[in-house]
Amino acid sequence: MKKKRKSEQVFIFDTTLRDGEQSPGCSMNPEEKLRLAKQLEKLGVDIIEAGFPVASDGDFLSVQQIAREVRGCQVAGLARANPEDIDRAWQAIKDAANPRIHTFLSSSDIHLQYQLRKTRPEILIDARNAVARARSYTKNVEFSPMDATRTDRDYLCDIVAAAISEGATTINIPDTVGYTMPEEFGDLMAYLYAKVKSLKDVVVSVHCHNDLGLAVANSLTALKYGVRQIECAVNGIGERAGNTALEEIVMAIETRKDLLNCHTGVKTEHLYQTSKLLTQITGVAVQPNKAIVGANAFAHESGIHQDGLIKEKITYEIIKPQTVGYSDTHLVMGKHSGRHAVSEHLKKMGFNLTTSEVNRVFVRFKELADVKKEIFDEDLEAIIYEEIFRAEDKYKLVYLNVVSGNVAVPTATMQMEVDRQIIQDAGFGVGPVDATFSAIRKITKTDYYLEKYAVNAITGGADAQGEVTVQLRYDSLSVVGKGAHPDVIVASAKAYINALNRLELLKSHGRNVKVE
Ligand code: KIV
Ligand code: ZN
Repeated sequence: MKKKRKSEQVFIFDTTLRDGEQSPGCSMNPEEKLRLAKQLEKLGVDIIEAGFPVASDGDFLSVQQIAREVRGCQVAGLARANPEDIDRAWQAIKDAANPRIHTFLSSSDIHLQYQLRKTRPEILIDARNAVARARSYTKNVEFSPMDATRTDRDYLCDIVAAAISEGATTINIPDTVGYTMPEEFGDLMAYLYAKVKSLKDVVVSVHCHNDLGLAVANSLTALKYGVRQIECAVNGIGERAGNTALEEIVMAIETRKDLLNCHTGVKTEHLYQTSKLLTQITGVAVQPNKAIVGANAFAHESGIHQDGLIKEKITYEIIKPQTVGYSDTHLVMGKHSGRHAVSEHLKKMGFNLTTSEVNRVFVRFKELADVKKEIFDEDLEAIIYEEIFRAEDKYKLVYLNVVSGNVAVPTATMQMEVDRQIIQDAGFGVGPVDATFSAIRKITKTDYYLEKYAVNAITGGADAQGEVTVQLRYDSLSVVGKGAHPDVIVASAKAYINALNRLELLKSHGRNVKVE
């Protein structure tokens, strides 16, 4: 009888906080990044790419904080292939339990000619020097030849071999512009393994972008050729069309382990909450039909499917919703529920809050229960993210009165706290939301470009809380603010103010360098 091969571990390298954070609207402040990093640790990823330390002092401090506080996984800092970046990355990550320097350099002729204006031999020297410098700090060094999939294959072999000979322990092959096709990518992997013998002594990784919607497919194909690290981001966020979605690649490996003979160390039951946390932090929602974590990922609508499911789940369900932490028991409690019941329920939802945090949530819960009959998990989540997970705000809403209708000029009278000072003013507009935003702009003396305004009902029913998303832009910074309240005008004011606060915070942590 043929002996079954032992399943091999695939390392999950999460780049939500670096590549992911670069996508429009996904900027996070240091406190939010730390919260997400702790969730990623709980999820069981192997490596967290915490940021790009040289980009700004804010990024440096945030990577340093994650390196110091997240002890359960490796923490990587990104660096271009130059001494300043590498030194800065090392300073930021050196206190980590297991620090990694990830240095990268473009290798395609397109990038060499138009962007770097350097020759192939020059780049080869830069790559060698970068890896050697990183190795002088740590044994854990990753090297990425950027735009690898559009690089001349033999030159790619040369640069990869050079990086390994200087001591790189992980070689990452990025499909930087999401250009490759699964078969072609597999062929490239086979070529590299055949030509660069030393590749078998290091961990080979892939970093795929999703421009053609093939990031997960390309990453999966690479596994067949011996790749054992996948770079990915929660909800698939990342430059342009994003990166390989963490939840999708993990669940593909888990669901088809019969075929792939691999496994990851990810605790899949935390996938849904991790996705939710990112959504709440950034305000950037996932599409309802998104695999694994979309609102409809486990919803069966057609009669034939429902009939099959009732008879036997396996007919139409390839993943149990519980496996990814999705539960359909959303009903929680009402106005008679006590502090203890709420506290226990929060624990069941996976939130480990301190007593004083539970008390703050409970006060907000009671206020909401006075105007809304049934409180759902989603309502509680909205309260937690607003009340607990929000940084100290520069701007706060104190009072809002709106007059509107078909015979009145919509007018919003408003009081706000600005740097702890109460300021009052009024605004007019074409409707109540417009009037409210105009009052906020007057009070805060700001006038950012409004990129997006959207309203959603958090749960069903006429008493549902309205969840408003507001996206503001300032230069290259784009932020999303969220607000929830049974009154959509109040929710709109809260969302706008939340976006303003996030923008202020990010401006104070100003970022100036970005990569793919
Ligand atoms: O897409 C890319 O090439 C990158 C590198 C820094 C790995 O993000
Ligand atoms: Zn990338």
